[in-house]
Amino acid sequence: MRLAIFNSSGIVVPSDPIYGPLSGKFSSNLKVLEDALLIIKGRKIENIVPESKINALRRDGGLKEIDAHGGIVLPGFIDSHTHIAFAGSRENEFYMKAEGKTYSEIQASGGGIYRTFSDVGITGFEGIMAQTLMRIAHGIMTGTTSFEVKTGYGSDDADEMKLLQVAEKIGNLGIANIRKTFLGLHVVPSGMSENEYAEHICKNLLPRIADRVDFTDIFCDRGAFGLESLAMIAEASSLHSIPLRVHANEIEDIGCVQALKGRRIASADHLLHVDDGDLDVLKSTGGIATLLPSTAFSMSPDSMPDFTRFSSKDIPVALASDCSPSTYTTNLFTELYLAVRFCRMPVQAALNGITVNAAFSLGLESQTGWIEPGKLADVNVLDVDDYRKLPYQHDFVRVRHLLKSGRLLIKDFAPEERLMRALNGEWAKFN
Ligand code: NIG
Ligand code: FE
Repeated sequence: MRLAIFNSSGIVVPSDPIYGPLSGKFSSNLKVLEDALLIIKGRKIENIVPESKINALRRDGGLKEIDAHGGIVLPGFIDSHTHIAFAGSRENEFYMKAEGKTYSEIQASGGGIYRTFSDVGITGFEGIMAQTLMRIAHGIMTGTTSFEVKTGYGSDDADEMKLLQVAEKIGNLGIANIRKTFLGLHVVPSGMSENEYAEHICKNLLPRIADRVDFTDIFCDRGAFGLESLAMIAEASSLHSIPLRVHANEIEDIGCVQALKGRRIASADHLLHVDDGDLDVLKSTGGIATLLPSTAFSMSPDSMPDFTRFSSKDIPVALASDCSPSTYTTNLFTELYLAVRFCRMPVQAALNGITVNAAFSLGLESQTGWIEPGKLADVNVLDVDDYRKLPYQHDFVRVRHLLKSGRLLIKDFAPEERLMRALNGEWAKFN
């Protein structure tokens, strides 16, 4: 059976063929096809044809039609950096920050990641699964069809495995593309030495799960892991042929980006304290720079990253939510808004940051990330008539329809039953 999305204000597609992540003068590679029908067959996009072809398609029979009501058609969004698998909530720290406490002070007093270590420790698999699935479903409600999911909130092997299993289970439900990242080196569990713990993660745990994860990651920063641990995880990852992601230069510049010299990485993320020399090293790693505007903004509105510094060095940029107990959001419209309004990012580049470049960042580019025949039919129909309105009226955009691999998850603004169950955290009923 075929599906046709008709009556849209346009379909957003690349303006030039895509051969790799978009950077520099190609960052804004995007155009709108008007009077166009999007044809979906099975799980995939079959074609884009002139709207006038609809009668012929109707005559062929077996056509299911989806009315876009004048909305714009975009690819499903890709959230390429999340810590969405966790238990609990840390709203108390939100108020502590509002009173002037810093992220590092909160962590040093046993809060932050340490607090979530203990919340994950006392919550069973089912509980973490239900909470995580509900967050994923919220992301889907704002147009996201692919998520990177990090571990990192387990203070021992068993808890890290629990989080990995949550990511796997959600991936198997088929409501979103899930990429799994092993963030074994998040912060050093209390009572352990950094070196001892990093060695354990790299030499014992990573080999056991190497074939179950897509990426490794490390929080390399003051109060987390230092350069020796970075070298250790980089070596271990390359030994197992797992691409590395790095939380780098977020709180402070302790030399993490510089230490990546001579290495290949999938992405470097946060990057709030980088100089030109760091950007040269970053360029040489082939990694994508992931900017996380919500997190930067919540640290301090003065610390927003500047997109033009990355694009002038020809470094591709992705945008992501960083969803965690510290930045509790999955809404990529908010990231679009913050990036365009405060990070000097053109709207087209920002959209490519949650689609094309995010797909490359996660190694999903052959499956999803932009609209073209042969790609999975991960498709958003939004209730605005022009993509330029998305950051501007970011809180006033609704997903009218959403398709994941050709299957409707949202229809006429309403979650389909499968998504509704996920929103309620009722994962067991999927089985
Ligand atoms: O990317 N920076 C490290 N990790 C997360 C937040 C972790 C937390 O505070 O729970 C981040 O912001
Ligand atoms: Fe993060």
